[in-house]
Amino acid sequence: MIMSRRCKLKDKEAVNMHVFKDFYSNEVKLSFEDHPFSSDPKHVWVICKFKNQWLLTKHKERGYEFPGGKVEIGETADEAAVREVMEETGAILKKIDYLAQYYVVGKSGSVIKNVYLAEVDKLTDQPTYYETEGPVLFNELPDNLAENINFSFMMKDEVLFHCLNKINEHKKI
Ligand code: GTP
Repeated sequence: MIMSRRCKLKDKEAVNMHVFKDFYSNEVKLSFEDHPFSSDPKHVWVICKFKNQWLLTKHKERGYEFPGGKVEIGETADEAAVREVMEETGAILKKIDYLAQYYVVGKSGSVIKNVYLAEVDKLTDQPTYYETEGPVLFNELPDNLAENINFSFMMKDEVLFHCLNKINEHKKI
């Protein structure tokens, strides 16, 4: 009885976990379960939709990417997500939902990141967009993201692919 329960759990984990290499050949584990790797992740990434467009930012070094960053001391990951979107794009959000979490085993330590799906209410002008050049709207994301030098490495692995599939499946926005 116990054995069969264990097997079921293992199967469930395997089915719900995507394991792949990122742009730098680091291993990534992505799951749509509720905070499977950490209840207190230190990084966030927010897939933003504004009307019928995707809202990205242009990182000064990495290029186009969805906004995100590190959780600050005394802040929750959810709060960091809202703050990072405002800082990097000036967007005020109508809605934000947790979507997934991923775990990257990097060369110099690991990163656990929450992915959110957010709906933008309005864009405001900001005096600074910190390490980015501010908001950029796309009607569609290009097909050749992996080869496109204008896009950040974060947009080039299967995290985005699986997340967009999940969003389409559920038609959350
Ligand atoms: P800063 O401290 O902000 O200058 O950035 P950093 O790159 O030194 O630190 P961070 O903790 O953000 O990331 C450490 C490493 O983890 C990066 O160099 C990447 O290799 C990896 N990493 C961080 N975020 C992601 C991500 O969203 N996707 C993937 N695949 N790797 C990531």
